[in-house]
Amino acid sequence: MTPDTTATVDPYRLPRHVIPTRYDLRLEPDLTAATFSGRETITLRVEQVTSAITMNAVDLTIASAELDDQTGRRLSAAIELDESLQRCQLRFPESVRPGEWRLHLVFQGKLNDQLRGFYRSTYKDQSGTTHTLAATQFEATDARRAFPCWDEPDFKAVFATTLVIDPALTAVSNTQVAAESIDAGKKVMRFADSIKMSTYLVAFIVGRMEATKPIPVGKTAVRLWTVPGKQPLTPFGHEIAVASLKFFEGYYGIPYPGDKLDLLAIPDFASGAMENLGAITFRETALLVDPASGTHGELERVADVVAHENAHMWFGDLVTMSWWNGLWLNEAFATFMEMLAVDDWKPEWKRWDSFSVSRAAAFSVDGLQSTRPIEFPVRAPKDADAMFDVLTYEKGASVLRMLEQHIGPTVFRDGVREYLRTHAYGNADTNDLWVSLGTAARQPVPELMDGWIFQPGFPLVTADMDGESAVVLSQQRFTYLQNKQATEQSWQVPVRISLGIGEKREHRHVLLKDRQMRVPLPEGVTHLLINEGGHGFYRVRYSPALLRQLLDTGLDRLAPIERFNLVSDAWATTLSGLMPLPEYLHLTGAFREERDKNVWAVLLDSFSFMNRLVSPNERPALEACVRSLVAPAVHRLGWTPEAGENDLVRQLRGELIGALGKLGNDSATQQQAAERYERYRQDPGSVDPNIIPAIVSILAHTGDEARYEAFSERYRTAATPQEERRYLFSLAAFQSPALLQRTLAGTISGGMRTQDAPFVVSAVLGNVYGREQAWSFLKANWDQMDRLFPKQGLRRMCGGIVCLATPELEQDVREFFGTRKIDLGGKTLAQYFEQLRIAVAFRDREGASLKKLFRSQ
Ligand code: BES
Ligand code: ZN
Repeated sequence: MTPDTTATVDPYRLPRHVIPTRYDLRLEPDLTAATFSGRETITLRVEQVTSAITMNAVDLTIASAELDDQTGRRLSAAIELDESLQRCQLRFPESVRPGEWRLHLVFQGKLNDQLRGFYRSTYKDQSGTTHTLAATQFEATDARRAFPCWDEPDFKAVFATTLVIDPALTAVSNTQVAAESIDAGKKVMRFADSIKMSTYLVAFIVGRMEATKPIPVGKTAVRLWTVPGKQPLTPFGHEIAVASLKFFEGYYGIPYPGDKLDLLAIPDFASGAMENLGAITFRETALLVDPASGTHGELERVADVVAHENAHMWFGDLVTMSWWNGLWLNEAFATFMEMLAVDDWKPEWKRWDSFSVSRAAAFSVDGLQSTRPIEFPVRAPKDADAMFDVLTYEKGASVLRMLEQHIGPTVFRDGVREYLRTHAYGNADTNDLWVSLGTAARQPVPELMDGWIFQPGFPLVTADMDGESAVVLSQQRFTYLQNKQATEQSWQVPVRISLGIGEKREHRHVLLKDRQMRVPLPEGVTHLLINEGGHGFYRVRYSPALLRQLLDTGLDRLAPIERFNLVSDAWATTLSGLMPLPEYLHLTGAFREERDKNVWAVLLDSFSFMNRLVSPNERPALEACVRSLVAPAVHRLGWTPEAGENDLVRQLRGELIGALGKLGNDSATQQQAAERYERYRQDPGSVDPNIIPAIVSILAHTGDEARYEAFSERYRTAATPQEERRYLFSLAAFQSPALLQRTLAGTISGGMRTQDAPFVVSAVLGNVYGREQAWSFLKANWDQMDRLFPKQGLRRMCGGIVCLATPELEQDVREFFGTRKIDLGGKTLAQYFEQLRIAVAFRDREGASLKKLFRSQ
């Protein structure tokens, strides 16, 4: 067969007639010149006669490429780079016969500042001197920026890395150091062979880094690494790293697949963290925290991210999706396992309750016509990047939770174990998972699950009585904007029903397969609750009579997650036009006594949403409405925790105070905040950390230039990553246009890290006093932002446009992205546009009612 016919039709995929099995990789970074030189020997299995080899490479210069078959024959290749397809073609003067070959490459590259590939990160030490370190970020498709390779997840190989570095520095990679020596004034660090793994999991970090003492978990030494001076912030992250590693070894029934486990905090980092086998990298806020001054939310974030990345060591690293369309097998699982591990570590945090917020985030995208199925075709790198979204993570994790609850946690775990054992060191697809889970569950899983993975959207389950003796459940696809075609879809929905018969409870589990189903009821049912336990990935709409009964029985009879769903479903149906706004507002009145932070979060979010829609002269009335809802709750809780109060109530207090001071614009709260802040500055230990973010943002909201200066200074000199972040984002919360202009200008000049800058722009887009200014700024500086910001950040920044909810701005937004032909990958932009459309349509539809309601307060 000639080589050209083996090439796949898809120009983004590599042909499969040459398979790499091992990379012996040697890299020599020069941190001062911001360059690196590299050499590698790739062991190959040639499966068909060929005279050409195609592999991935981008932004590299390749000096030479030679093949040898270990009998002394050497073939030198002509090298052709295709920058747009990010690949290079090696053409040999004669044909290469099947068998084992070694490919030798010599190449050079730049240490970039784009936070991908092999890149530079900088930090200042205590004396103010700037230092550089080099780190890698390869997922999804950026290993090819550091060394030429077969950069697709199913070309798994063994990696043996050697780093040649300045003797004053240290280096970390995926495995243990096998040998260290000095050669020609350089430190040569050779790392042990890795397991067979994908290119996107390779990592190396070079710089002045300090490590904790290792804590052993079985045979695995677990360490945390930081830049000098930050070691005091490691114990909390270390503890969850150890606890979750133990938990996963138990759950998966398979030992940790690496030979050591390092977790490294990198000062510049595009995402939250990255699961490189044995060398997990994090942004600092996701690993380092001071438990004494951190809020519950900040501590939970660290626990989440650490547990999530550790979960990947099996799900993702040991067993990997075959291609990026199946990314959910990595990310949904890691998210699901993250919940299990954190819940096991701190059951009092009620992690599955707060997961409701994530499920709701998935609903809000999955209710769009521009949503996509969890599994979705991917070709170009941009589209692979766009897969890292709430559908992959949060919808994916939600449907796993639903399945786990449906077949039972033990059966589910057994299926997972079987799946990991069967595909260890290899790749897998969705169907492989169904086979394993189906074996464990002794029931066919595809019929049940395919609809959730391969269809877009989710069902709205409507409940209505059929006389006294039965309830009728029906399903249709939930949409915000009505779409006839979508109503044809259906799912297999595991529905749990709780029946109240006076003081007694009965439970029903049914599988709603058809469009409609009649569930007979026993006598004397006084109320019923659909989606008991709250794990189902569907929304519920009650008939008015059923809703009334449910409210009449008392909300305190429901679990927090069920109350959350009640409000969240009601608000979603209000947005979609199925529930009139006054009815929703009436419902919120029933929650004045609420004590759950997640339920409050959904209530407050709905008011923030409305705050973006009302005109400035209606705003005072909306503020009054927020005050009437929130003030009694703040009053009940007070500003200081009671002795022995749990973390969740502490966090709730912070959220409520923040809402009352900003959204409610309550002057007494603003004054209290100023007083408490003074007290906190005098004696940081005297104020509960959980209310500090609220206080800081209230002070920004009402702040003048002097306060702006003070907060900017505190951002620059913060003692912890969390404090730095808090003051940075406070700069987006001021009201004065002049001050907001300074914040915006700072995002593209003046040293703000590019890992943060796009999120700051997005925060100003979300500030009703600054959004138009931020939008003008974004338009005027787009090219620079596009060049400067990590791609992921840029995409997230654009998410802020959904706040530009007036018809004029909406028009302008569409025009800007259209004429510039901006593509954020996948369906990202279409989803932002549609979310904006929904907001503007809601404003048109409910405008009169908003006016009336917020005038009558
Ligand atoms: N594999 C991802 C990191 C990643 C994200 C790589 C986007 C490429 C693009 C990692 O496991 C991850 O999911 N990180 C999350 C944090 C997690 C706790 C949800 C992140 O970075 O936000
Ligand atoms: Zn992940």
